[in-house]
Amino acid sequence: MNNKQRVLLIISGGIAAYKSLDLIRELNRLNISIRCILTENAGKFVTPLSLTALSKDKVYQDLFSVSDENTMGHIQLSRNTDLVLVAPATANIIAKMSCGIADDLATTTLLATDKPVIIAPSMNVRMWNHASTQTNISTLLKRGIKIIGPEDGEMACGEFGLGRMSDIEKISATLNNFFKIKTNKAAGKLKGRKVVVTGGPTHEAIDPIRYITNHSSGKQGFAIARALHEQGATTTLITGPTQIPDPPGICVKHITTAEEMLQSCLDCLPADIVICAAAVSDWRIKNQYSEKIKKQDETLSLELMENPDILATIARTQKNRPNLVIGFAAETQNLLENATIKLDKKGCDWILANNVSKETGVFGGDTNQIKFISKNKIEEWPILSKEAIGKKLTKRIIAFLKDHKNGKD
Ligand code: CTP
Repeated sequence: MNNKQRVLLIISGGIAAYKSLDLIRELNRLNISIRCILTENAGKFVTPLSLTALSKDKVYQDLFSVSDENTMGHIQLSRNTDLVLVAPATANIIAKMSCGIADDLATTTLLATDKPVIIAPSMNVRMWNHASTQTNISTLLKRGIKIIGPEDGEMACGEFGLGRMSDIEKISATLNNFFKIKTNKAAGKLKGRKVVVTGGPTHEAIDPIRYITNHSSGKQGFAIARALHEQGATTTLITGPTQIPDPPGICVKHITTAEEMLQSCLDCLPADIVICAAAVSDWRIKNQYSEKIKKQDETLSLELMENPDILATIARTQKNRPNLVIGFAAETQNLLENATIKLDKKGCDWILANNVSKETGVFGGDTNQIKFISKNKIEEWPILSKEAIGKKLTKRIIAFLKDHKNGKD
Protein backbone atom coordinates (compact mmCIF):
# COMPACT_ATOMS: atom_id res chain seq x y z
CA MET A 1 0.00 0.00 0.00
CA ASN A 2 1.22 3.54 -0.70
CA ASN A 3 1.38 6.31 1.91
CA LYS A 4 -2.16 7.58 1.29
CA GLN A 5 -4.32 8.13 4.36
CA ARG A 6 -7.09 5.53 4.55
CA VAL A 7 -10.70 6.15 5.49
CA LEU A 8 -13.27 3.45 6.13
CA LEU A 9 -16.53 5.09 5.06
CA ILE A 10 -19.65 3.59 6.65
CA ILE A 11 -22.75 4.64 4.74
CA SER A 12 -25.96 4.20 6.71
CA GLY A 13 -29.51 4.34 5.36
CA GLY A 14 -30.56 7.96 5.04
CA ILE A 15 -31.44 10.02 1.98
CA ALA A 16 -28.06 11.80 2.24
CA ALA A 17 -26.43 8.47 1.32
CA TYR A 18 -26.52 9.61 -2.31
CA LYS A 19 -23.97 12.31 -1.39
CA SER A 20 -21.42 9.62 -0.52
CA LEU A 21 -20.51 9.37 -4.21
CA ASP A 22 -19.43 13.01 -4.33
CA LEU A 23 -17.74 12.63 -0.97
CA ILE A 24 -15.60 9.76 -2.26
CA ARG A 25 -14.59 11.80 -5.31
CA GLU A 26 -13.62 14.74 -3.13
CA LEU A 27 -11.61 12.57 -0.74
CA ASN A 28 -9.86 10.90 -3.66
CA ARG A 29 -8.92 14.37 -4.86
CA LEU A 30 -7.30 14.95 -1.45
CA ASN A 31 -5.29 11.77 -1.93
CA ILE A 32 -7.29 9.90 0.72
CA SER A 33 -8.18 6.31 -0.13
CA ILE A 34 -11.68 5.06 0.67
CA ARG A 35 -13.08 1.66 1.47
CA CYS A 36 -16.87 1.46 1.91
CA ILE A 37 -19.22 -0.45 4.16
CA LEU A 38 -22.83 -0.14 3.04
CA THR A 39 -25.66 -0.96 5.43
CA GLU A 40 -28.67 -2.85 4.10
CA ASN A 41 -30.84 0.29 4.14
CA ALA A 42 -28.14 2.46 2.59
CA GLY A 43 -28.10 -0.01 -0.29
CA LYS A 44 -31.59 1.25 -1.17
CA PHE A 45 -30.20 4.74 -1.84
CA VAL A 46 -26.86 4.01 -3.45
CA THR A 47 -25.57 0.97 -5.32
CA PRO A 48 -22.45 -1.05 -4.54
CA LEU A 49 -21.54 -0.81 -8.21
CA SER A 50 -21.19 2.99 -8.21
CA LEU A 51 -19.32 2.92 -4.90
CA THR A 52 -16.91 0.30 -6.22
CA ALA A 53 -16.32 2.32 -9.38
CA LEU A 54 -15.42 5.46 -7.42
CA SER A 55 -13.57 3.92 -4.47
CA LYS A 56 -11.80 1.41 -6.73
CA ASP A 57 -12.27 -1.17 -4.01
CA LYS A 58 -14.72 -3.86 -3.07
CA VAL A 59 -17.79 -2.67 -1.10
CA TYR A 60 -18.45 -4.60 2.10
CA GLN A 61 -22.05 -5.31 3.11
CA ASP A 62 -22.52 -8.64 4.80
CA LEU A 63 -21.30 -9.66 8.24
CA PHE A 64 -21.86 -13.31 7.46
CA SER A 65 -20.30 -13.44 4.01
CA VAL A 66 -17.93 -16.41 4.06
CA SER A 67 -15.79 -15.03 1.25
CA ASP A 68 -15.50 -11.54 2.81
CA GLU A 69 -14.70 -12.87 6.27
CA ASN A 70 -11.97 -14.99 4.70
CA THR A 71 -10.35 -12.15 2.79
CA MET A 72 -11.16 -9.10 4.98
CA GLY A 73 -13.21 -9.84 8.11
CA HIS A 74 -14.90 -7.18 10.23
CA ILE A 75 -11.97 -6.98 12.64
CA GLN A 76 -9.48 -6.40 9.83
CA LEU A 77 -11.81 -3.87 8.21
CA SER A 78 -11.92 -1.95 11.46
CA ARG A 79 -8.12 -1.97 11.84
CA ASN A 80 -6.86 -1.54 8.26
CA THR A 81 -7.74 2.12 8.20
CA ASP A 82 -6.57 5.40 9.72
CA LEU A 83 -10.03 6.73 10.44
CA VAL A 84 -13.64 5.54 10.42
CA LEU A 85 -16.18 7.99 8.98
CA VAL A 86 -19.91 7.38 9.29
CA ALA A 87 -21.66 9.53 6.68
CA PRO A 88 -24.54 9.84 6.69
CA ALA A 89 -25.03 8.75 10.29
CA THR A 90 -28.73 8.08 10.87
CA ALA A 91 -30.44 8.32 14.27
CA ASN A 92 -30.54 4.53 14.22
CA ILE A 93 -26.81 3.92 13.78
CA ILE A 94 -26.03 6.67 16.32
CA ALA A 95 -28.30 4.91 18.85
CA LYS A 96 -26.63 1.58 18.16
CA MET A 97 -23.16 3.09 18.54
CA SER A 98 -24.15 4.68 21.82
CA CYS A 99 -25.45 1.34 23.20
CA GLY A 100 -22.76 -0.85 21.67
CA ILE A 101 -25.19 -2.84 19.55
CA ALA A 102 -23.47 -4.91 16.87
CA ASP A 103 -26.08 -6.51 14.65
CA ASP A 104 -24.66 -5.96 11.17
CA LEU A 105 -21.28 -5.44 9.52
CA ALA A 106 -21.28 -1.63 10.02
CA THR A 107 -22.08 -1.67 13.75
CA THR A 108 -19.86 -4.69 14.45
CA THR A 109 -16.97 -2.89 12.78
CA LEU A 110 -17.68 0.27 14.79
CA LEU A 111 -17.62 -1.73 18.01
CA ALA A 112 -14.40 -3.49 17.04
CA THR A 113 -12.42 -0.50 15.84
CA ASP A 114 -9.51 1.02 17.72
CA LYS A 115 -9.29 3.94 15.28
CA PRO A 116 -10.66 7.48 15.61
CA VAL A 117 -14.30 7.78 14.55
CA ILE A 118 -16.01 10.81 12.99
CA ILE A 119 -19.73 10.91 12.24
CA ALA A 120 -21.82 13.22 10.05
CA PRO A 121 -25.42 12.96 11.33
CA SER A 122 -28.34 13.25 8.94
CA MET A 123 -31.99 12.99 9.97
CA ASN A 124 -35.27 14.82 10.37
CA VAL A 125 -35.17 17.79 12.76
CA ARG A 126 -37.50 16.13 15.29
CA MET A 127 -35.40 12.99 15.30
CA TRP A 128 -32.28 15.11 15.86
CA ASN A 129 -33.92 17.09 18.67
CA HIS A 130 -35.36 13.98 20.32
CA ALA A 131 -34.03 13.45 23.85
CA SER A 132 -32.75 9.96 22.99
CA THR A 133 -30.71 11.21 20.03
CA GLN A 134 -29.31 14.09 22.08
CA THR A 135 -28.36 11.71 24.93
CA ASN A 136 -26.74 9.36 22.42
CA ILE A 137 -24.80 12.22 20.84
CA SER A 138 -23.47 13.39 24.20
CA THR A 139 -22.44 9.81 25.03
CA LEU A 140 -20.49 9.62 21.76
CA LEU A 141 -18.90 13.02 22.37
CA LYS A 142 -17.79 11.89 25.82
CA ARG A 143 -16.13 8.89 24.21
CA GLY A 144 -14.12 11.21 21.99
CA ILE A 145 -16.08 10.63 18.79
CA LYS A 146 -16.04 13.74 16.62
CA ILE A 147 -19.32 15.01 15.19
CA ILE A 148 -19.58 17.10 12.01
CA GLY A 149 -22.85 19.04 11.78
CA PRO A 150 -25.72 18.56 11.30
CA GLU A 151 -26.71 21.78 9.54
CA ASP A 152 -29.78 23.95 9.55
CA GLY A 153 -31.98 24.18 6.45
CA GLU A 154 -34.61 22.55 4.31
CA MET A 155 -34.76 18.78 4.52
CA ALA A 156 -35.65 16.15 1.97
CA CYS A 157 -38.89 15.55 3.92
CA GLY A 158 -39.93 19.21 3.41
CA GLU A 159 -39.40 20.32 7.03
CA PHE A 160 -36.90 22.96 8.12
CA GLY A 161 -34.39 22.81 10.95
CA LEU A 162 -31.24 21.12 12.18
CA GLY A 163 -30.63 17.72 10.69
CA ARG A 164 -29.15 18.11 7.19
CA MET A 165 -25.86 16.34 6.69
CA SER A 166 -22.99 18.83 6.41
CA ASP A 167 -21.89 19.51 2.88
CA ILE A 168 -19.13 17.54 1.25
CA GLU A 169 -16.67 20.45 1.48
CA LYS A 170 -17.09 20.68 5.25
CA ILE A 171 -16.71 16.93 5.77
CA SER A 172 -13.65 16.67 3.53
CA ALA A 173 -12.08 19.78 5.14
CA THR A 174 -12.53 18.19 8.59
CA LEU A 175 -10.88 14.98 7.41
CA ASN A 176 -8.09 16.88 5.73
CA ASN A 177 -7.50 18.81 8.94
CA PHE A 178 -7.56 15.61 11.00
CA PHE A 179 -4.84 14.08 8.83
CA LYS A 180 -2.81 17.28 8.90
CA ILE A 181 -2.84 17.24 12.71
CA LYS A 182 -1.95 13.56 12.69
CA THR A 183 1.03 14.17 10.41
CA ASN A 184 1.98 17.16 12.50
CA LYS A 185 1.77 15.02 15.61
CA ALA A 186 4.01 12.35 14.14
CA ALA A 187 6.59 15.01 13.32
CA GLY A 188 5.41 17.32 16.12
CA LYS A 189 7.96 19.40 17.97
CA LEU A 190 6.75 18.10 21.33
CA LYS A 191 6.81 14.46 20.34
CA GLY A 192 8.06 12.40 23.25
CA ARG A 193 7.29 15.14 25.83
CA LYS A 194 4.90 14.43 28.65
CA VAL A 195 2.67 17.35 29.59
CA VAL A 196 0.04 17.76 32.30
CA VAL A 197 -2.53 20.56 32.12
CA THR A 198 -5.10 21.44 34.77
CA GLY A 199 -8.32 23.19 33.77
CA GLY A 200 -11.83 24.14 34.81
CA PRO A 201 -13.11 24.93 38.30
CA THR A 202 -13.22 22.67 41.33
CA HIS A 203 -16.36 22.00 43.35
CA GLU A 204 -16.07 21.87 47.13
CA ALA A 205 -19.06 20.29 48.80
CA ILE A 206 -20.82 22.13 51.63
CA ASP A 207 -23.39 19.42 52.19
CA PRO A 208 -24.74 16.65 49.91
CA ILE A 209 -26.64 19.27 47.87
CA ARG A 210 -24.54 22.43 47.76
CA TYR A 211 -21.01 23.33 46.82
CA ILE A 212 -18.55 26.22 46.46
CA THR A 213 -17.19 26.94 42.99
CA ASN A 214 -16.38 29.77 40.55
CA HIS A 215 -17.23 30.85 37.00
CA SER A 216 -14.38 29.06 35.20
CA SER A 217 -15.55 27.46 31.92
CA GLY A 218 -12.40 25.39 31.41
CA LYS A 219 -11.99 26.75 27.85
CA GLN A 220 -8.43 28.00 28.38
CA GLY A 221 -7.08 24.77 29.88
CA PHE A 222 -8.75 22.68 27.17
CA ALA A 223 -7.36 24.95 24.43
CA ILE A 224 -3.84 24.65 25.83
CA ALA A 225 -4.12 20.86 26.07
CA ARG A 226 -5.33 20.68 22.44
CA ALA A 227 -2.48 22.88 21.17
CA LEU A 228 0.15 20.78 22.98
CA HIS A 229 -1.42 17.56 21.72
CA GLU A 230 -1.38 18.87 18.15
CA GLN A 231 2.39 19.28 18.48
CA GLY A 232 2.75 15.65 19.46
CA ALA A 233 2.98 16.00 23.27
CA THR A 234 1.60 13.12 25.32
CA THR A 235 -1.00 15.22 27.04
CA THR A 236 -3.02 14.64 30.19
CA LEU A 237 -5.76 17.11 31.02
CA ILE A 238 -6.97 17.10 34.61
CA THR A 239 -10.22 18.97 34.73
CA GLY A 240 -12.93 19.93 37.14
CA PRO A 241 -16.57 19.87 36.01
CA THR A 242 -17.11 21.70 32.66
CA GLN A 243 -19.52 21.53 29.71
CA ILE A 244 -16.73 20.78 27.24
CA PRO A 245 -16.52 17.31 25.64
CA ASP A 246 -13.26 15.38 26.06
CA PRO A 247 -10.91 16.31 23.22
CA PRO A 248 -9.99 13.25 21.12
CA GLY A 249 -6.50 11.87 21.64
CA ILE A 250 -5.97 13.52 25.01
CA CYS A 251 -6.05 11.57 28.26
CA VAL A 252 -8.70 13.42 30.29
CA LYS A 253 -9.00 12.87 34.04
CA HIS A 254 -12.18 14.18 35.60
CA ILE A 255 -11.97 15.34 39.20
CA THR A 256 -14.26 17.35 41.44
CA THR A 257 -12.29 18.81 44.34
CA ALA A 258 -8.93 20.57 44.74
CA GLU A 259 -7.59 17.66 46.78
CA GLU A 260 -8.53 15.23 44.00
CA MET A 261 -6.90 17.51 41.42
CA LEU A 262 -3.69 17.59 43.44
CA GLN A 263 -3.62 13.81 43.83
CA SER A 264 -4.31 13.32 40.14
CA CYS A 265 -1.46 15.72 39.23
CA LEU A 266 0.98 13.97 41.55
CA ASP A 267 -0.03 10.60 40.06
CA CYS A 268 0.96 11.98 36.62
CA LEU A 269 4.51 12.91 37.66
CA PRO A 270 7.18 12.69 36.40
CA ALA A 271 6.28 15.00 33.52
CA ASP A 272 8.31 17.41 31.40
CA ILE A 273 5.88 20.28 31.70
CA VAL A 274 2.97 21.11 34.01
CA ILE A 275 0.57 23.94 33.22
CA CYS A 276 -1.90 24.91 35.93
CA ALA A 277 -4.78 26.69 34.20
CA ALA A 278 -7.45 25.49 36.63
CA ALA A 279 -9.41 27.93 38.76
CA VAL A 280 -8.95 25.93 41.92
CA SER A 281 -11.22 26.80 44.81
CA ASP A 282 -8.93 28.27 47.46
CA TRP A 283 -11.05 26.99 50.30
CA ARG A 284 -13.13 24.00 51.27
CA ILE A 285 -15.56 23.51 54.14
CA LYS A 286 -13.74 22.56 57.31
CA ASN A 287 -16.36 20.12 58.48
CA GLN A 288 -18.41 19.04 55.52
CA TYR A 289 -22.05 18.42 56.49
CA SER A 290 -23.16 14.85 55.87
CA GLU A 291 -26.85 15.85 55.79
CA LYS A 292 -28.54 18.76 54.04
CA ILE A 293 -28.25 21.93 56.12
CA LYS A 294 -31.75 22.99 57.17
CA LYS A 295 -32.80 26.62 57.50
CA GLN A 296 -32.74 27.62 61.15
CA ASP A 297 -31.47 31.11 61.84
CA GLU A 298 -31.37 34.00 59.42
CA THR A 299 -27.64 33.64 59.03
CA LEU A 300 -25.37 30.67 58.65
CA SER A 301 -21.64 30.62 59.28
CA LEU A 302 -19.46 28.19 57.44
CA GLU A 303 -15.92 27.54 58.54
CA LEU A 304 -13.56 27.29 55.57
CA MET A 305 -10.04 25.94 55.42
CA GLU A 306 -7.43 26.49 52.76
CA ASN A 307 -7.06 23.95 49.98
CA PRO A 308 -3.62 22.71 48.99
CA ASP A 309 -1.90 24.88 46.39
CA ILE A 310 -1.38 22.50 43.48
CA LEU A 311 0.94 24.75 41.48
CA ALA A 312 3.18 25.52 44.47
CA THR A 313 3.24 21.86 45.53
CA ILE A 314 4.45 20.79 42.08
CA ALA A 315 6.91 23.66 41.65
CA ARG A 316 8.35 23.70 45.16
CA THR A 317 8.14 20.33 46.80
CA GLN A 318 8.58 17.64 44.17
CA LYS A 319 11.88 15.81 43.86
CA ASN A 320 10.96 15.04 40.28
CA ARG A 321 9.98 18.66 39.53
CA PRO A 322 9.05 19.13 35.86
CA ASN A 323 11.46 21.21 33.73
CA LEU A 324 8.84 23.82 33.19
CA VAL A 325 6.04 24.67 35.61
CA ILE A 326 3.60 27.28 34.36
CA GLY A 327 0.78 28.96 36.24
CA PHE A 328 -1.89 31.55 35.66
CA ALA A 329 -2.66 34.56 37.81
CA ALA A 330 -6.26 35.62 37.82
CA GLU A 331 -6.39 39.15 39.21
CA THR A 332 -8.96 41.90 39.43
CA GLN A 333 -6.46 44.62 40.48
CA ASN A 334 -2.69 45.37 40.50
CA LEU A 335 -2.21 42.71 37.84
CA LEU A 336 1.55 42.93 37.31
CA GLU A 337 2.46 43.36 40.93
CA ASN A 338 0.24 40.54 42.20
CA ALA A 339 1.26 38.20 39.39
CA THR A 340 4.97 38.80 39.97
CA ILE A 341 4.53 38.07 43.66
CA LYS A 342 2.69 34.85 42.71
CA LEU A 343 5.50 33.74 40.40
CA ASP A 344 7.93 34.05 43.23
CA LYS A 345 5.71 32.69 46.00
CA LYS A 346 4.65 29.61 44.06
CA GLY A 347 8.11 28.93 42.63
CA CYS A 348 6.88 28.44 39.08
CA ASP A 349 8.83 29.39 35.95
CA TRP A 350 6.24 31.39 34.05
CA ILE A 351 2.99 33.06 34.95
CA LEU A 352 0.29 34.01 32.47
CA ALA A 353 -1.45 36.87 34.19
CA ASN A 354 -4.93 37.95 33.23
CA ASN A 355 -7.39 40.51 34.36
CA VAL A 356 -10.55 38.67 35.38
CA SER A 357 -12.60 41.63 36.52
CA LYS A 358 -16.21 41.26 35.42
CA GLU A 359 -16.08 43.67 32.49
CA THR A 360 -13.24 41.77 30.71
CA GLY A 361 -15.47 38.69 30.21
CA VAL A 362 -12.44 36.41 30.59
CA PHE A 363 -14.25 33.98 32.86
CA GLY A 364 -16.44 31.93 30.56
CA GLY A 365 -15.57 34.06 27.49
CA ASP A 366 -13.68 33.04 24.36
CA THR A 367 -10.84 35.55 24.55
CA ASN A 368 -8.17 36.47 27.02
CA GLN A 369 -5.47 39.14 27.37
CA ILE A 370 -2.27 37.84 28.84
CA LYS A 371 0.76 39.38 30.43
CA PHE A 372 3.48 36.78 30.15
CA ILE A 373 5.85 36.91 33.11
CA SER A 374 9.05 34.93 33.61
CA LYS A 375 11.87 35.62 36.07
CA ASN A 376 13.50 38.13 33.75
CA LYS A 377 10.89 39.08 31.20
CA ILE A 378 7.45 40.62 30.95
CA GLU A 379 5.58 40.53 27.66
CA GLU A 380 2.19 41.93 26.85
CA TRP A 381 0.14 39.74 24.53
CA PRO A 382 -2.74 41.24 22.54
CA ILE A 383 -6.34 40.13 23.13
CA LEU A 384 -6.44 36.65 21.61
CA SER A 385 -8.86 33.78 21.43
CA LYS A 386 -8.21 31.12 24.06
CA GLU A 387 -7.34 28.80 21.15
CA ALA A 388 -4.69 31.27 19.93
CA ILE A 389 -3.29 31.63 23.45
CA GLY A 390 -2.91 27.84 23.63
CA LYS A 391 -0.97 27.90 20.35
CA LYS A 392 1.19 30.89 21.33
CA LEU A 393 2.08 29.31 24.65
CA THR A 394 2.89 26.04 22.89
CA LYS A 395 5.25 27.88 20.51
CA ARG A 396 6.99 29.50 23.48
CA ILE A 397 7.37 26.14 25.18
CA ILE A 398 8.90 24.67 22.01
CA ALA A 399 11.33 27.60 21.75
CA PHE A 400 12.24 27.27 25.44
CA LEU A 401 12.95 23.56 25.15
CA LYS A 402 15.12 24.20 22.11
CA ASP A 403 17.12 26.99 23.76
CA HIS A 404 17.41 25.64 27.29
CA LYS A 405 18.10 21.96 27.24
CA ASN A 406 18.83 22.09 30.97
CA GLY A 407 18.59 25.64 32.25
CA LYS A 408 15.72 28.01 32.87
CA ASP A 409 14.44 31.22 31.27
N1 CTP B 1 -3.64 27.27 41.93
C1 CTP B 1 -3.44 25.97 42.32
N2 CTP B 1 -3.99 25.54 43.49
C2 CTP B 1 -4.72 26.35 44.25
C3 CTP B 1 -4.93 27.68 43.85
C4 CTP B 1 -4.39 28.12 42.69
O1 CTP B 1 -2.78 25.23 41.61
N3 CTP B 1 -5.22 25.89 45.38
C5 CTP B 1 -3.00 27.74 40.70
C6 CTP B 1 -3.93 28.15 39.59
O2 CTP B 1 -4.21 27.06 38.73
C7 CTP B 1 -3.12 29.22 38.87
C8 CTP B 1 -2.31 29.84 39.99
O3 CTP B 1 -2.28 28.89 41.03
O4 CTP B 1 -2.20 28.67 37.98
C9 CTP B 1 -2.84 31.14 40.53
O5 CTP B 1 -4.21 31.02 40.83
P1 CTP B 1 -5.02 32.30 41.32
O6 CTP B 1 -6.42 31.90 41.52
O7 CTP B 1 -4.71 33.46 40.43
O8 CTP B 1 -4.32 32.66 42.68
P2 CTP B 1 -4.39 32.03 44.11
O9 CTP B 1 -3.21 31.16 44.32
O10 CTP B 1 -5.71 31.38 44.31
O11 CTP B 1 -4.22 33.31 45.01
P3 CTP B 1 -5.26 34.53 45.28
O12 CTP B 1 -6.63 33.90 45.28
O13 CTP B 1 -4.83 35.05 46.59
O14 CTP B 1 -5.08 35.51 44.16
